Amino acid sequence: MKVLILGSGGREHALAWAVKRSSRVTEVVCAPGNGGIAQIARCIPVNLKDLDAMVRVAEAEQPGLTIVGPELPLSLGIVDALQERGLRVFGPTRAAAMLETSKGFAKRFLQRHNILTANYALCASAAELEKAVEMFHPPIVVKADGLAAGKGVIICQSRNTALEAAHGLFSGKLLGEPEQQVVLEELLHGDEISFMCLSDGKHVIPLAPAQDHKRIGEGDTGPNTGGMGVYSTDTMLEPGMKDWVLHHIAEPTVRGMADEDAPFVGVLYIGLMMTARGPQVLEFNARFGDPETQAVLLRLESDLVEALEASIDGRLAETELRWTPGASACVVASSSGYPGSYATGFPISGLGAAAQVPGVQIFHSGSAQVGNQLLTAGGRVLGVTAAAPSLEEALARAYEAMAEIHYEGIYYRHDIGHRSLTRKP
Ligand code: AMP
Ligand code: GLY
Repeated sequence: MKVLILGSGGREHALAWAVKRSSRVTEVVCAPGNGGIAQIARCIPVNLKDLDAMVRVAEAEQPGLTIVGPELPLSLGIVDALQERGLRVFGPTRAAAMLETSKGFAKRFLQRHNILTANYALCASAAELEKAVEMFHPPIVVKADGLAAGKGVIICQSRNTALEAAHGLFSGKLLGEPEQQVVLEELLHGDEISFMCLSDGKHVIPLAPAQDHKRIGEGDTGPNTGGMGVYSTDTMLEPGMKDWVLHHIAEPTVRGMADEDAPFVGVLYIGLMMTARGPQVLEFNARFGDPETQAVLLRLESDLVEALEASIDGRLAETELRWTPGASACVVASSSGYPGSYATGFPISGLGAAAQVPGVQIFHSGSAQVGNQLLTAGGRVLGVTAAAPSLEEALARAYEAMAEIHYEGIYYRHDIGHRSLTRKP
């Protein structure tokens, strides 16, 4: 079977790598892909903002399966469009993807279904906002309703700064496009866990849990990014807690979407805050996380394509996933200046030596092949990923490989997973 992957980041590189290992797969095509993906799959240029262009690629390629990586094509209805043309596709419909594409929808949905989440107010006007803000004790979290590539959440220390941020979202000053709705939310405290599940619309099975490091700076300081590194271990979520999240959050969400005639088929990514009052939903994503996927797929022993097909066909109740025991970690190397502005086009060296470190896979987030030279081409450039029997070893391997890699302005955090290593059980 030929598999088409839509996307261009580290997540798509990891998906292509995992798909290629499936005994069912004869060819992997990626649109548009990147310099690293081009080493293992045929890449076809496409604009991920252009629904018709993506449909044309799929129609021309006639893949046996299309996997949608990022949220933007989901928000445009790529899954609906391919299904209408009789093409098999893994991912949620536009209606189901609203769990990610509208925070207002997600918050009201959580409330309708009594699923734990931060207290909130959804405001559609400046007047509503000014009334609602009085109900919150600072710090106040202000969120854009729509997709914002990680830039739509502002933590405000006073009511005045919350109002200013919310007005900035309404006017379009903060994100470029004006927001129709803004969410105000109480600030939650605790550890974040990325709890990803496969869903077939009725049943869910969890993937290995992961923890993302969203801030640019060591010790979780500085602005939010798309994710600077993750780790995944067997022990980061106790079995009782995992079952609780499954039964009280993941399953009710999938049941709720089915009851509302928008069955969710795809990866349900539940961003959890493990608070003193128990796990609470921070956000939903309707897709694989990036860089969670890089670390998690490195631990997956089962055939990914079979699992995705079981989701599409409603067979997850009979499906079990096998995981390599131990741990994995992904350390992201970015361009100097990211998440602000940065320069690209610098030659990358040392990838061969880095890949020799045992247990290491290097997934490219933003690279381009020009002639026979790999150049930096994004804010996040590489995800150096390693698996090992313990988290200490996985991190040591990832950092050993990272030390081999060079390009102008390379930046990475040295403390991925450290909080977990120093925490007493
Ligand atoms: P979101 O786009 O909703 O996932 O938010 C992005 C990040 O902002 C989350 O991963 C958290 O680190 C942070 N965040 C969002 N909502 C809250 C909240 N209510 N309390 C604390 N942190 C939050
Ligand atoms: N790593 C967070 C995300 O994929 O949204």
